[in-house]
Amino acid sequence: MQIDRKICFPKDRKLRILQVSDPQDMHFVRRAMLKMLDAAYDTVQPDLVVFTGDNVHGNHLDENRLGMKTKDKALIAKRMAQALDYVLRPVQARQIPFCMIYGNHDDLNPLTKQEQADMYKNYSCFFGLNDAHPELDCDTYNVPIYGSDGEKIVYNLWMLDSAGKDDGTGKGYCYVKPEAIRWYQSESDTLKAANGGAPVPSLMFQHVPVPQITELFVQCEADDPDAVQWRGDDDLPYKLDPERAEGFAAEYPCVCDTDFGQLDAIRAQGDVCALVFGHDHANCFDTNLHGVRMIQTPGASFRSYGTPQSRGVRVFEIDEKDPWNFDTYILTYYDLLGKTMRTRMDYFMSADEFDVKRAVLFGATGAAALVAGGIAAAVHLLK
Ligand SMILES: [Fe+2]
Repeated sequence: MQIDRKICFPKDRKLRILQVSDPQDMHFVRRAMLKMLDAAYDTVQPDLVVFTGDNVHGNHLDENRLGMKTKDKALIAKRMAQALDYVLRPVQARQIPFCMIYGNHDDLNPLTKQEQADMYKNYSCFFGLNDAHPELDCDTYNVPIYGSDGEKIVYNLWMLDSAGKDDGTGKGYCYVKPEAIRWYQSESDTLKAANGGAPVPSLMFQHVPVPQITELFVQCEADDPDAVQWRGDDDLPYKLDPERAEGFAAEYPCVCDTDFGQLDAIRAQGDVCALVFGHDHANCFDTNLHGVRMIQTPGASFRSYGTPQSRGVRVFEIDEKDPWNFDTYILTYYDLLGKTMRTRMDYFMSADEFDVKRAVLFGATGAAALVAGGIAAAVHLLK
């Protein structure tokens, strides 16, 4: 167990955790996301921020103009430091403790996970990481949380790496590996023993959802308003089954089929209040599957895909007096900033789904300016 920084319930015994998933941006950032995150930190005033992967758009940091790629490691590292700083500086400036796990886009970064971890360590409010178990990824660890009196561990966060490639299928995203599940079982037993034999209530965060999450999706008609893009082997449309999950989905889950018995382990340990995912940016739901509560959090990124309904952050409110039951909700861009001319314009100027429209608009504006300039020059010459 690693304790770089002691996290305690606050004096009012209400712990607020803010989950920011998939901020996924570059060394030149989409400003609407920064405004959204600033508003989230000021509105929620969290005790802890958890970044749950795709923390930068890592696989694009080596791109130059016209699709050329650089191998200049120093240049990539400089871009990475800038991209990361856009995400972390607002949290650091507010002196909020924060921790993270990686996502598939972090794994695709030309910099290794450990090289990236060294950059996180430049921020004094950052804590976490696994330095004690070299057999595990550096972002597989746990965060023990002490009671408001600071004496005893009363809550816990499991942070599990799922960033990597599924070598069996070639998919560019992964799953929680068997050694991480074994470590979780062992560490959970240790926490339980120190807690007088009672499981310590925990949230378990990982980037990529478990494969069982696809069981929530049912076939539907192609013209069903809730039909989602299907990425599987058949051409049938699917939608989130409203009888099995509360929330919405705008995409079919991008998960691996591989299962190393994570849900069996969770049920046996009896300590996980909810398993929490990121990765599928446009999905947001809460469900109970195979006896485990599962929560899907949408993405914050404006550079990657998403919708006005999904772009946002998730809040967890945990009461020390009843930690097994907690409140959780999403705050979207418009929840946080309101719908005004300014916020709509900022959304349009940043969001990925308006990339083409912005290009057309600016292209037309540039062409109109050129024509106007040409006419003005001609008129001038004719005078
Ligand atoms: Fe992502």
